Amino acid sequence: MTAFPACPSSCPVVRANAADDRLAWPVGQVRRVASVGGEVDETKRNLLKLAVVAGVLGVGGGGVVGGAIQYLQPPAVGISSYPKTQLFDVDGAPLTATKVESEYNYKTSDLYLFNYPLRNEPNFLLNLYPGASGVPGGVGHHNSIVAFSAICQHLGCPAPAIAYYPPNTCQAIGGRTFYIHCSCHGSTYDVTNSAANLTGPAVLPLPQVVLDWDQATDLLYAVGENGPPVNGHLNTLQGDYSVGTSSQLAKETPVILCNFPS
Ligand code: FES
Repeated sequence: MTAFPACPSSCPVVRANAADDRLAWPVGQVRRVASVGGEVDETKRNLLKLAVVAGVLGVGGGGVVGGAIQYLQPPAVGISSYPKTQLFDVDGAPLTATKVESEYNYKTSDLYLFNYPLRNEPNFLLNLYPGASGVPGGVGHHNSIVAFSAICQHLGCPAPAIAYYPPNTCQAIGGRTFYIHCSCHGSTYDVTNSAANLTGPAVLPLPQVVLDWDQATDLLYAVGENGPPVNGHLNTLQGDYSVGTSSQLAKETPVILCNFPS
């Protein structure tokens, strides 16, 4: 039986709520889902497990199950090449590297997500400076702005179940104090190294969005993707319609779990 280390006293209050019951899917190493309002009801968790199994077997639908089916059985649509997609801020303004670097600090726990290259492929936008700079694929004044798929490479849990953990949110993993962690079964990814795996059960890195920074205008674009296909897609270009020439950030509150094996 896996030994779970005690949650450090520095662990923050978990920001789960009723809407985050999706974290009960699928079954895994999630030992405790605390919330501001208390622990998630165990009966509800078990019902969700059954619902997911039914969904995988094709006898259920709606809500979380519908989401699972969406990723497992993507529609037969797609695109033939990566679009050049300009990124826009949460407020609709064109997104600049300067703004990301000043406002989306690597210590920020809020998630900033954008879809690319397809409408059902969400990605994290992260600024790692001043915690890290010159990282692979990084753009901006410090080569620190990166973007990774927000769908776990294990069984496809999407954000906010998979989330960015700011420095020292929980224990260090592989010597890293900030990383992406999936609450479903504990996979962890190194944000400073192209989202390489730090812990399984996932074995593949998260796909990394290729960003382009126009230094003259300070604007940011998504122009491609490296790494494996987005989980649940035969390839990253198949499974939904193109996001088009613009994609706007959406802000989400992460779900942070400690008490995971390291
Ligand atoms: S879906 Fe299993 S670790 Fe993320």
